[in-house]
Amino acid sequence: LFAGPVDFVKGVTGMAGLPPADRVEVCFAGRSNVGKSSLINALTNRKNLARASNTPGRTQEINYFALGDSRYMVDLPGYGYAEAPVAIVAKWQALLKSYLAGRQTLRRAFVLIDMRHGIKAVDEEILGLLDKSAVTFQTVITKADKVNRETRDETIAQVKAALAKHPAAYPEIVVTSSEKGEGIETLRAVIAGLE
Ligand code: GTP
Ligand code: MG
Repeated sequence: LFAGPVDFVKGVTGMAGLPPADRVEVCFAGRSNVGKSSLINALTNRKNLARASNTPGRTQEINYFALGDSRYMVDLPGYGYAEAPVAIVAKWQALLKSYLAGRQTLRRAFVLIDMRHGIKAVDEEILGLLDKSAVTFQTVITKADKVNRETRDETIAQVKAALAKHPAAYPEIVVTSSEKGEGIETLRAVIAGLE
């Protein structure tokens, strides 16, 4: 699946612009700068398919990528960017909410958590939103290469403890590094296995 063609389909700013719901879809949600776009690039083995950037809030649209003709991967706008204007934040939140609640073919929402920071209050908001939606969600820890063993163990423990309060969460956490490739094959297999 990931060895085949991968294409950028479109970026949309509202529910009306979404492509037809005719294939299995997964999305990547997470705080600004957590590494959503980098993860999509690592999964597809492309350098710049999804635009990764040091500037938080870089991805402001819902960006659709097609894996062959059987899957969509969706790069969502980041949340929790402190310096974003209030009006913009409100618009993103509304879009994110309608997308998570209303996209029928969405099979899994990956919630990305930075290994250095663990689950924060803004992440809890998204997890709360997902609790109420019909979408299965799964935690993916990013930037594993940035921490030592001790921090790694602490963050994994913190994430597990936080997820215990969200029984609808998929029980397995995937630990990744887009930089070093850790967990990428595991995540590919998860995506390829969804029906
Ligand atoms: P927004 O689009 O702003 O919401 O950000 P994003 O979640 O798409 O993050 P992005 O992929 O743009 O990555 C943010 C920064 O983190 C970039 O400078 C990346 O190079 C860096 N980064 C992402 N993943 C990793 C990783 O696994 N390891 C390391 N060391 N850096 C990473
Ligand atoms: Mg991005």
